[in-house]
Amino acid sequence: MRIVLSILALVASQSCGLADDERESAFRGRRIAEANCGACHALARTDGSTLPAAPPLREVGANVPYGILREMLRGPVFLKHVVMPNFDPDGQQADDLAAYIRSIAQEDD
Ligand code: HEC
Repeated sequence: MRIVLSILALVASQSCGLADDERESAFRGRRIAEANCGACHALARTDGSTLPAAPPLREVGANVPYGILREMLRGPVFLKHVVMPNFDPDGQQADDLAAYIRSIAQEDD
């Protein structure tokens, strides 16, 4: 229950929007993605994935609510897929990645 509450609190605080913080976070997230995800996933707004089975990260960002995306990137997503690297981000890195993915996702939500 405490976990659920803290997730809700995180989602709520995120949606209040600190634009500058989020831009800086997205910038750090881009660096992390370039180093760890680009071998398979498309990282920008229009490129194709190097590994066709890997969805472009912008599509993941467009299809998954932001709060869920942040939780996924804290670990579960990397355990779920056999081909994914053994990547174990700390909370800040996971949030930075989520902010970056959000920044390249189609803005239709
Ligand atoms: C070795 C190749 C590879 C690397 C490196 C990689 N991925 Fe993936 N990723 C995949 C493949 C392939 C899939 C699709 C798997 C599937 O659908 O079963 C995937 C799926 C995903 C998904 C979608 C999961 C879902 O359930 O919809 C996310 C999010 C994701 N990757 C994030 C990342 C992030 C962030 C990184 C970098 C930290 C990363 N991946 C690095 C190959 C990779």
